Amino acid sequence: MQEKQSIHGSWANRWIFILAATGSAVGLGNIWKFPYITGENGGGAFVLVYLVCILLVGVPIMMGEVLIGRRARQSPINAMREVAKESGHSGKWSLVGLMGVLSGFMIFSFYSVVAGWVLYYIAGMGKGDFVGIGGEQAGAIFNGLLGDWESLLIWHTVFVVMVMTVVAGGVNKGLERATRIMMPALFVLLLVLLGYSMNTGHFSDGWNFLFEFDVSKLSWNAVLVALGHSFFTLSLGMGAIMAYGSYMPKKASIGGTVLTIAAMDTLVALIAGLAIFPIVFANGMDPGAGPGLMFVTLPVAFGQMAGGQLFGFLFFLLIGVAAWTSAISLMEPAAAYMVENFGMSRVTSCVILALTVWGLGILALGSFNFMSDFTLFGMNTFDFLDFATANIMLPLGGIFISLFAGWFVKKKVSLDELAMEENGLFYLWYISIRFIAPLAVSIIFVVNLYQKIAG
Ligand code: PHE
Repeated sequence: MQEKQSIHGSWANRWIFILAATGSAVGLGNIWKFPYITGENGGGAFVLVYLVCILLVGVPIMMGEVLIGRRARQSPINAMREVAKESGHSGKWSLVGLMGVLSGFMIFSFYSVVAGWVLYYIAGMGKGDFVGIGGEQAGAIFNGLLGDWESLLIWHTVFVVMVMTVVAGGVNKGLERATRIMMPALFVLLLVLLGYSMNTGHFSDGWNFLFEFDVSKLSWNAVLVALGHSFFTLSLGMGAIMAYGSYMPKKASIGGTVLTIAAMDTLVALIAGLAIFPIVFANGMDPGAGPGLMFVTLPVAFGQMAGGQLFGFLFFLLIGVAAWTSAISLMEPAAAYMVENFGMSRVTSCVILALTVWGLGILALGSFNFMSDFTLFGMNTFDFLDFATANIMLPLGGIFISLFAGWFVKKKVSLDELAMEENGLFYLWYISIRFIAPLAVSIIFVVNLYQKIAG
């Protein structure tokens, strides 16, 4: 039988798929969010819970997404419909894909604003703007940027154009080429920074902070944060990995591939932590500084250190590359859908999508200045977009995808697509995707929502 192919193309080999999916997974979530939530939640114990969540929830759901995408070889909306019908169920499952595309838009709009800050810091570090500054000045620079909507708009626009250009190039000439160049660059930058932090003289402080297991520091809330983050960091619940899976070569085994991606994502988060905390400790700063850790604490630290200008520049360059490869995967599902259903060229689709997310992004960046008084459910637009996606739409998407893959896709189809025998390993996945993953995610979903409403 002729193997079914995606009309968009397919990855040259299994490793390109692994690297592209890792590019999607490794982003602001790993380098900005993971270190600061680890800092806020006390370090080692949190890291351990996070690792368990990746294995028990993240890996099974990711396998489900890749399985569905590769089975249908279409964009997530059409893939859900197609695979549902194949197993004798309603085509309405496509709505899950639709919600994913919507989540992608919403994540993109605030992601692009943060990526814009990163671009601003790349330029600033390069020019030496942070050399020798103190904490107050660093805070003033960051707040000054937030208040300056024109600068924010410029950097946001640059980022949207960067992403659009790659996605418009298509799977092989855009996504794959970007992967081949950017992923090795990302790994090299990460290792250079790790080497730098090993020389700060405080490497062991950073190491102990990340890996010393102190149960007393573990709260129920930390467990929820870890579970939620394991989800966001692997790009699950909105179809990014499903879309990438639809371009995956048939020969490649899904289980091993997904484990590799999850392992690389985790490794990058841990290395980012090992690169950042020694620098923080070397300068006597607070690891629990929160979201400002990267934009305020680190520039001060770099500003005080020998070689800080160069390494600060490289550090923000690393985050920029990571954010770029993630944002590409936020746009791809919608772009592929428009090509499939509206008969548009990829370039036209991408221009329309870019204009849409660009407009939404203006609402997000306005939160810090001209729209600071406007609130939705008590949140500014930036926080609302973050909350609605990370805490509601992605978990919901994840629950539906796991229920769908576990209970609605015929077992025969799953066995065939995963290329597995009906053995213990298969049942490990089957039990996770049917029970453990949907239950665990439902719990975070409900508790998160309850806490938000109960305030
Ligand atoms: N995984 C990305 C990160 O860690 C974020 C992301 C979420 C990307 C969902 C695509 C889809 O930053």
